[in-house]
Amino acid sequence: MKLAIGSDHAGYELKETVKEYLGEQGVDFKDFGTYSADSCDYPDFGQIVAEAVASGEYPLGILICGTGIGMSMVANKVPGVRAALCGDTFSAHSSREHNHANLLVLGARVVGAGLALDIVKTWLTASPLGDRHARRVEKIAAVERKYGRE
Ligand code: RB5
Repeated sequence: MKLAIGSDHAGYELKETVKEYLGEQGVDFKDFGTYSADSCDYPDFGQIVAEAVASGEYPLGILICGTGIGMSMVANKVPGVRAALCGDTFSAHSSREHNHANLLVLGARVVGAGLALDIVKTWLTASPLGDRHARRVEKIAAVERKYGRE
């Protein structure tokens, strides 16, 4: 599994912690930045990671900013991306199983590193469910098509 990861300055430190965890788990990931704690603009990194996921080259992605809200807003503008802001493990596995989320968003100023790693672990080990859940996810794609975003 190839995974794209990115953050702004507020998420930089947590991104480094998550990268260490991913490395330990043998996850093949690429860091799209930011590469320091210097102030930057979250839409720049949200867009590049979301586009990497939407392209199919990176089936999964992780984005981190202060609250996770800005990254979620940006990522969900990119057609084909289903970004889920998760602050608990129930949402993490549900977002994979029910919503087929392909991008996990974390708020570094909201969750501590321990919870964040539990969320990442839960999210990466859950799998999309079919039947009614697949039908509903297809309806999300239909909304994108209606507004010419796919
Ligand atoms: C940066 O100060 C902060 O606004 C950003 O990380 C994020 O929380 C935006 O949604």
